[in-house]
Amino acid sequence: MAIALRNRWRRQLVSEDLREEIYPKNIIMIGPTGVGKTEIARRLAKLCQAPFVKVEASKFTEVGYVGRDVDSMIRDLVEAAISLVREEETEKVRARAAEIAEDRLVEILSGHPPNPRPASPFGFAAPPPPATPRLGDSEREKLRSQLRAGTLDDQYIEVDVSETGVTFLRNFSGQGMEEIGVNLQDLFKNMPGFNKTRKQRVKVPEALRILTEEEAGKLVDPDRINREALRRAETTGIVFIDEIDKIASREGPRAGPDVSREGVQRDILPIVEGSTVNTKYGSVKTDHMLFIAAGAFHVSKPSDLIPELQGRFPIRVELEPLTGDDLVRILREPKNSLIRQYIALLATEGINLQFADDAILEIAKTAETVNGRTQNIGARRLHTILERLLDEVSFSASEMANRTVRIDAAYVRDRLSEIVKDEDLSRYIL
Ligand SMILES: Nc1ncnc2c1ncn2[C@@H]1O[C@H](COP(=O)(O)OP(=O)(O)OP(=O)(O)O)[C@@H](O)[C@H]1O
Ligand SMILES: [Mg+2]
Repeated sequence: MAIALRNRWRRQLVSEDLREEIYPKNIIMIGPTGVGKTEIARRLAKLCQAPFVKVEASKFTEVGYVGRDVDSMIRDLVEAAISLVREEETEKVRARAAEIAEDRLVEILSGHPPNPRPASPFGFAAPPPPATPRLGDSEREKLRSQLRAGTLDDQYIEVDVSETGVTFLRNFSGQGMEEIGVNLQDLFKNMPGFNKTRKQRVKVPEALRILTEEEAGKLVDPDRINREALRRAETTGIVFIDEIDKIASREGPRAGPDVSREGVQRDILPIVEGSTVNTKYGSVKTDHMLFIAAGAFHVSKPSDLIPELQGRFPIRVELEPLTGDDLVRILREPKNSLIRQYIALLATEGINLQFADDAILEIAKTAETVNGRTQNIGARRLHTILERLLDEVSFSASEMANRTVRIDAAYVRDRLSEIVKDEDLSRYIL
């Protein structure tokens, strides 16, 4: 995975004529359940600044059947690219937008909105704003410094919030409408009466936020965002197709849903190979997008995928089942490890939860034992075990505020050994 990602970056630095010829090598990750395939995808999405989507292969249906068609993953990728680029562009203009917003807020506070109301779409002139005496510059500066000092924070003011009927459109367009390829929202935006603004009473800081947002929206150039997002999606986009094994059909007589599964594979082919997909932002070429597929392949094997598809994922990565040592590291090392999550959760009730080192070893050992005896569900076993281990503390937490609870190996054994010993019991509980 690291090599694949690095190669994308290297490719950007290669001279242009060669760059066109360098295609990404798509990857299939194969590993038993709970070894962290999806976890890798999630981390990757956070790490890389590239447009990224994760889709479940099992959600797709063959073209012509009810459900999502495979093109929608490319549309989702473009959508992700759009929000990524918009975020970046907005960040660039944020300081400027905040300045303008402050000016507007000062005007509103001084009772003299700078923009006269727009004429109504039906040609009637809007009534002139009531003439209030205009504040002098010094008073306005005073307001401004009060605003900055936060003395006006509790004051309510009225601001215009634009209401484009987005919610209505969302309900109306829903799934299935997306492939029309027209941005309905844009279509409706220019219709009279649709672009209403609504007055809303909000506190001053909230008003500043709304105005900044609005001004930032005016400062960014939507066409530029559009163009850049399409370019990014094409050159650096990554599509993670999870649960690919669920659409691999096994040998033998096929019936019913299997036919459609193979259809999905066939539909995926051109996308992986490189084709053009129409989205509401324009068309994108998928040639240089990186596709990473992942699956447990418990029942099926990669060779059960149709041959054309196998060939388009040249790199196979095998993830080995987790060992006891891995489980210890998974409990200890990640910034958001389960242990830290429980500590943080119980801290909210004033409980100081502590784990001794030997407790962590014992938890990992228990997880490994249970995984070996029943089914190997990888690191997910830690979730069930910790939940069981801490259920007493969790349940009575509210009655024992401000206490330190120390979990050591003896406590772990005490809570879990009976269940682990009894295989039937552990099948149900752990
Ligand atoms: N290598 C790892 N490092 C850290 N945490 C891990 C690791 N592997 C698994 N986990 C933990 O286990 C959980 C389950 O892992 P994940 O969802 O990635 O499994 P998976 O490989 O996608 O399994 P499946 O094939 O069932 O989808 C994750 O939420 C994560 O907390
Ligand atoms: Mg998974």
